[in-house]
Amino acid sequence: MTRPADATTSGRAYTAPGITVYYDAVRCRHVANCVRGLPQVFDPQARPWIQPAHAEAEAVAAVVRTCPTGALHYVLEAGPAETPDPTTTISPLPDGPLIVRGDLTLITPQGLVREVRAALCRCGGSSHKPYCDGTHDKIGWKSDVQPSSES
Ligand code: SF4
Ligand code: FES
Repeated sequence: MTRPADATTSGRAYTAPGITVYYDAVRCRHVANCVRGLPQVFDPQARPWIQPAHAEAEAVAAVVRTCPTGALHYVLEAGPAETPDPTTTISPLPDGPLIVRGDLTLITPQGLVREVRAALCRCGGSSHKPYCDGTHDKIGWKSDVQPSSES
């Protein structure tokens, strides 16, 4: 099997002493765990909106780990890589994607990708599969409506 690529360094890099934060905008579902967790670092009104120098590197990493979609990752200069959850969990969001955490290998158009957190498309409409890109909102997809069966 081909060795999977690491998702960690996908997206735009925001570097400060001790840590680089990576942000992949298309995977962000605006859950705002980051903004609530460290508003002085993750501030949508500021430019750049991520300023990791405004907190201790390990505190920034801890908030990044709460990002459910995998839009955020980090590399610590002198610290370990993020450890995947020991148990893989899959939680459906109402009218939205599947939130997956664990030691994941995703099959993507670019090849295999190693991940620890991801929001995976459940509506079928994403242009960025397997990731959710927010299309479910635009098309008004409802998870509790069953497809009609023809008889
Ligand atoms: S926690 Fe992740 S998904 Fe939520 S707003 Fe921040 S970057 Fe986006
Ligand atoms: S579930 Fe979000 S784009 Fe399909």
